Amino acid sequence: MPESTVISDALEGLRVGDVPDLDFSTLVGLVNEPNMPSGGGRTIRRVIDMARLRPGVRVLEVGSNTGYTSIEFASWIDGEVVGVDVNPVSTAFATEKAARHGLDNVRFDVADGTDLPYRDGTFDLVYCSNVTSFMTDHRGARDEYYRVLAPRGVLAAVPIYYASPPPDDLRRRVGAAIGVDLPVTDQDYWRDLFSDDGSTLIDQETYAYVRQSPESIAAYVRSVLDQPHLARLDARVLDAVGRRLAYFYELFDENLGYARYDILMYRRGHPNPERVLHQSRAVR
Ligand SMILES: C[S@@+](CC[C@H](N)C(=O)[O-])C[C@H]1O[C@@H](n2cnc3c(N)ncnc32)[C@H](O)[C@@H]1O
Repeated sequence: MPESTVISDALEGLRVGDVPDLDFSTLVGLVNEPNMPSGGGRTIRRVIDMARLRPGVRVLEVGSNTGYTSIEFASWIDGEVVGVDVNPVSTAFATEKAARHGLDNVRFDVADGTDLPYRDGTFDLVYCSNVTSFMTDHRGARDEYYRVLAPRGVLAAVPIYYASPPPDDLRRRVGAAIGVDLPVTDQDYWRDLFSDDGSTLIDQETYAYVRQSPESIAAYVRSVLDQPHLARLDARVLDAVGRRLAYFYELFDENLGYARYDILMYRRGHPNPERVLHQSRAVR
């Protein structure tokens, strides 16, 4: 399959002096890093279980990047998946990856999550993980996710938030890395944000991150750089890309030491109250 010109133009135009100024999403798009959600494929499989998807289901992922999550959905479900992202290079990689795996029930569109090019009520599941924090208008994004969600559809959100306050300097460096003035959000912020008048929180799970060693980060960077499509890069460019990636991963690892993530499942038009008088817990 011939490589998309979006990809070759972006890689061939890359100069060593540009690399230190690249933000995280742009660099991830260029190197085709998998860019998994928090918890990796396990999170997607939990969402699939919790969403109780029926055959023929239509799924939208907002912020699909290089395709990992949408492809994971498409490989498990009996239905159609659309991944949408503002970055055309990562979208081109996602499209190629799906074709390489012979998945014809997933496609990728370039569009903004706050202005989605789909009709009201198109999707049975709308999934967003670490994307809304990249946008300035969180409420506008939330309203747009619900607009394209079908009646009795599910919004699955996997936000990262601070469980303890980060140092100001760390927050500033993370904001600069992702190109957003990052607000310090807590668990309640996202739980409240993703509720709307017509939705019910039907499931929620909370996870903490495990810190990574510098060696495991370095090994991960090597695995990313080792991809065949990067062999065309000049050695100095490749070296700069590796240093920039290592900078991002070490920074994020430090940041995630203060953070947790939730899997939040909201159902639109849920018919029954979820408030239980006699609460229970699982016995193991
Ligand atoms: C950290 S990645 C998301 C990775 C992955 N989908 C996940 O499961 O966490 C953030 C992605 O959001 C995209 N993005 C940022 N602003 C966006 C917007 N307004 N609309 C759609 N995508 C956006 C970026 O281009 C990037 O690919």
